[in-house]
Amino acid sequence: MNGLILVKIGGSLITDKTKAFTPNPETIERIAKEIQEARKEGNLNNLVVGHGGGSFPHRSAAKYQTHKGIVNDDSYKGISVVHNDAARLNSIFVDALLKNGVNAIPVQTSAVCLAEDGKIVHWDSEPMRFSLENNLLPVPYGDVALDTKKGCTIISTELLLDYLAKKLGATRVIIAGKVDGVFTADPAKDPNAKLIPEITAENFEEVKKYLDGSDGVDVTGGMIHKVEQMLELAKSGIQSEIINADKPGVLKRALLGETNLGTVIR
Ligand code: IPE
Repeated sequence: MNGLILVKIGGSLITDKTKAFTPNPETIERIAKEIQEARKEGNLNNLVVGHGGGSFPHRSAAKYQTHKGIVNDDSYKGISVVHNDAARLNSIFVDALLKNGVNAIPVQTSAVCLAEDGKIVHWDSEPMRFSLENNLLPVPYGDVALDTKKGCTIISTELLLDYLAKKLGATRVIIAGKVDGVFTADPAKDPNAKLIPEITAENFEEVKKYLDGSDGVDVTGGMIHKVEQMLELAKSGIQSEIINADKPGVLKRALLGETNLGTVIR
C-alpha cells in the first residue's frame, strides 16, 4: 500500500505501567493532537495507529498467564477479562482521537486475528484497507487472541504491526515510547548510558547484552521483543524507528517524515 505508515503508541507512554488501570490523560490528549495535526499538515491518509496495553491488560494477562495459553479452568475467564481490560484503554485512546477531530476506528485484535503458537496466522485485513481508503484511522491494539495450538495467547502491538507491514506493504514503522531509543544502559539509572542510533542484524548480538525488561508488569517481553520484531521487518526491507513521544512534538515530526530522532532499525 503506497506510503503506509504504521505506528505503535507504547502502553508505558499512555499509562502508568506501575499502577493498575492508570491512564496518562495529558499525554493521551497531546498525542491525539499531534496525530491530528500531522494527518492534516502531511496529508497522511495511509496511517494506522496501534497502541499497547500498559497497566490495563498486562496485569490481568500476568494473573491468568494468558500468554502461556489455556493453563487451567480460569484461563477462559482470563481471555474475557484481558480483552475487556485492553478494550477499556482503547476506548480512552479512541475517545481522545475523536475529540481532536480524527475519525478513529478501533480494530479488535481478538475478534479479527487467529494465532498459532503465539504468531498471527489469520487476519482479514480487507476492512482495514477499506477504512484507509475512506479516510478513517484504524486503531488496532495489543490484546488476547485465540490460538490453535495453545488455546489463547497475547498479541503485542509489535506483532500486529509486523503482520500488517508485510501484508499491506508498509513504508515506515514508528514505535513511540517514553525513552529516546535503545541505550547501552538504563539512562534513568546510569549517566554514562549512550543512545544506539542504529541497530542492524550485524550489531544485534552486541545490543542484546544491553537490553532488559521494561518497568512494571509486562507479559510481552519489553524492549528485546520490540527490537526483534523490528529486525524481522528489516529483513523485508521495512525500516523502523523507536522514538520518544513523551517529548512534545517528536511524534508529529516523525510522522511528517523526520528520521534519526531515536534508534533506527534497518
Ligand atoms: C500488550 O500489548 C497487550 C496485553 C498484555 C493484552 P503490547 O505489548 O503492545 O503493550 P505494551 O506497549 O507493552 O504495554
